[in-house]
Amino acid sequence: MNHQHIFKQGNPERPLLLLLHGTGGTEHDLFFLGEAIDPEASLLGVRGNVTESGMNRYFRRLAEGVFDENDLDYRTKELIAFLEEASKEYGFDRNNIVAIGYSNGANIAGSMIYSFKDVVKGAILHHPMVPFRNRQLPDLHSLPVFIGAGTNDPLCAPEESTELKATLEGAGSEVSIYWGNAGHSLTNEEVVAAKAWYNKHF
Ligand code: MLT
Repeated sequence: MNHQHIFKQGNPERPLLLLLHGTGGTEHDLFFLGEAIDPEASLLGVRGNVTESGMNRYFRRLAEGVFDENDLDYRTKELIAFLEEASKEYGFDRNNIVAIGYSNGANIAGSMIYSFKDVVKGAILHHPMVPFRNRQLPDLHSLPVFIGAGTNDPLCAPEESTELKATLEGAGSEVSIYWGNAGHSLTNEEVVAAKAWYNKHF
């Protein structure tokens, strides 16, 4: 399989939590988060296939906050193909995946949602950006999204978080947004809010 990853078997009745790290992270980084959100779920931590100055990422960028959209498209398809393979290898339900991403990981999760219908059942996006502009989104009526945003996030301005929410809602998604004020950091309060959202939907 074309992504370094780690899988933990959980209750097959629960969703599979796809864990996508931030820039410079690894497949291990968000295991604590998956375990906090749903202690019974199977977990799949996946390492990004791109490196930038030795840091793992899911796709290339041209500058900070400026995505290489061609590479993002390519890497999004590559990750989706990996999920197909992993579901066969580990026997989880391909149609019962909830993505949890932080920063760069939230951005590729956002790209998956922007690009393909029913690619995941829901998503928790911690400090995401708008993955693409001027793109026709698929129908997202059955795909709820949680956004963890920061009023003072230096990488994802509040306007960008609001734009992402509005665009997803425009495609039919039910979007909840949590506003923190700890910059780009993922706080315990934000995790608690994400868990409450998850428990309501799954
Ligand atoms: C990205 O490139 O995905 C965003 O700028 C966030 C990050 O720095 O990883």
